[in-house]
Amino acid sequence: MKKIAVFTSGGDAPGMNACVRAVVRTGIYNGLEVVGILRGYSGMVEGNFKPLKTESVGNIIQHGGTILKTARNKEFTTVEGRKRAYDNLKNEGIEGVVCIGGDGSFTGAKIFFEEYGIPFIGAPGTIDNDLFGTDYTIGFDTAINTAVEAIDKIRDTADSHDRVFFVEVMGRHSGAIALEVGLAGGAEAILLPEVNGEIERLKKIFKKRKRKKSFSIIVVAEGDEEGGAYKIAEEIKNTFPNTEPKVTVLGHIQRGGSPTANDRVLATRLGVAAVEALINGEANKMAGVINNNVVLTSFDDAITKSKNLPDSYKLLEVLNV
Ligand code: F6P
Repeated sequence: MKKIAVFTSGGDAPGMNACVRAVVRTGIYNGLEVVGILRGYSGMVEGNFKPLKTESVGNIIQHGGTILKTARNKEFTTVEGRKRAYDNLKNEGIEGVVCIGGDGSFTGAKIFFEEYGIPFIGAPGTIDNDLFGTDYTIGFDTAINTAVEAIDKIRDTADSHDRVFFVEVMGRHSGAIALEVGLAGGAEAILLPEVNGEIERLKKIFKKRKRKKSFSIIVVAEGDEEGGAYKIAEEIKNTFPNTEPKVTVLGHIQRGGSPTANDRVLATRLGVAAVEALINGEANKMAGVINNNVVLTSFDDAITKSKNLPDSYKLLEVLNV
């Protein structure tokens, strides 16, 4: 193997740059040429490549976002789009690819490998922490710290005004962010897509409110099956007309900012591991960290197997006694 490529794909995540840096430098260390593919799969379909040297990835480890840009590309989901991507990779002499992204990106990589046989190795870059085969994804730690910092600020005003706040955090299909943020932010309740009937529990909490609690933080995952924070707040307002719930949707603030030390280290370890895996002839797998060891998991398992959430939301009843 003489030449590899690296790209970032799907929603950006803090730490992606640290991972790109690790991929480029591990490639060069092992005598490989490395090119960056710009804007995810769009760059592959359009042939948008950029040679990357050691200095190309200098002074990026501390930056959020991704220097390679990212996109959610539709064309790569078509047979014609993938053929164009293959032709471009072939013309460029690329023999292996590191894909930094989430489940959608790995689904594309898996199909592409099955069709064309170009080895892809994934590094899990998504704030959602929803991939099987790794305890943590790159960006999750930064995102939860950003959200907790925001909640701490909301608590000040919630306390001053004796208000109930519904804070919506990201996670279309996963409550991983909501769970951690809720526990670290001292939430009274956490609504997760993985747990049904939480709204009834919430109503019971509001009915009881036995101790004189002046304010509350309720964390809601954007993908909660009962609706987002606005919908749930409205239902509480309808059931308890005396409450005046406020809603804050944290949104994309969770995707930006300087990566935490944990995310930088994780991104670095997985970037190195991804290139080493390609050199060792591996393909169609994601590098992840389980119990602090780097492991490879097939894309198939990473995408299709569900990652169990810790059942720590059960602690809420105790913590809010
Ligand atoms: O997958 C990461 C994520 O931030 C999800 O938590 C969120 O639902 C989604 O991306 C938002 O995507 P976009 O930025 O494309 O709207």
